[in-house]
Amino acid sequence: MSDFESKRRFRRLFADTMPAGKQYKSYPAVKIGRLGVHTDFQSTGFGGQLLNYIKGMFIYNNRTGCQYITVDAYSRSLRFYEKNGFRYFTDSDSQSDTRQMYFSLVDLVN
Ligand SMILES: CC(C)(COP(=O)(O)OP(=O)(O)OC[C@H]1O[C@@H](n2cnc3c(N)ncnc32)[C@H](O)[C@@H]1OP(=O)(O)O)[C@@H](O)C(=O)NCCC(=O)NCCS
Repeated sequence: MSDFESKRRFRRLFADTMPAGKQYKSYPAVKIGRLGVHTDFQSTGFGGQLLNYIKGMFIYNNRTGCQYITVDAYSRSLRFYEKNGFRYFTDSDSQSDTRQMYFSLVDLVN
């Protein structure tokens, strides 16, 4: 919830993604701090593999109940996160240096 500019915005997003009766005041999520791949190896697929590994950690043998992966993505890395299935929380940060994005693990298992 603290990642959202308002409670209304938070409720609206999850009203769209969570079925009626399964909507809560907060959802378990893990936040990627700063993901980085050595410059010698960028654009060779390592970043995508790292994200797949992180997603897998919360799909197989998941004991955390984690439902979302979030990231404050640098504008230069937005395309990378988009390509890996991340979506934007809001349009209000579209001109910022970083944008809030999330990946729904719920979508992956359904
Ligand atoms: C962003 C980053 C982690 C991606 O890892 P990667 O191993 O280069 O990514 P992949 O090879 O799996 O995917 C590359 C795709 O992501 C996109 N991309 C977005 N930003 C990129 C960047 N800074 N460098 C390389 N590719 C980038 C490219 O469009 C590329 O797509 P293409 O293959 O169609 O051209 C890595 O480039 C990096 O460490 N960048 C600097 C640090 C950074 O900005 N981290 C993000 C913190 S939020």
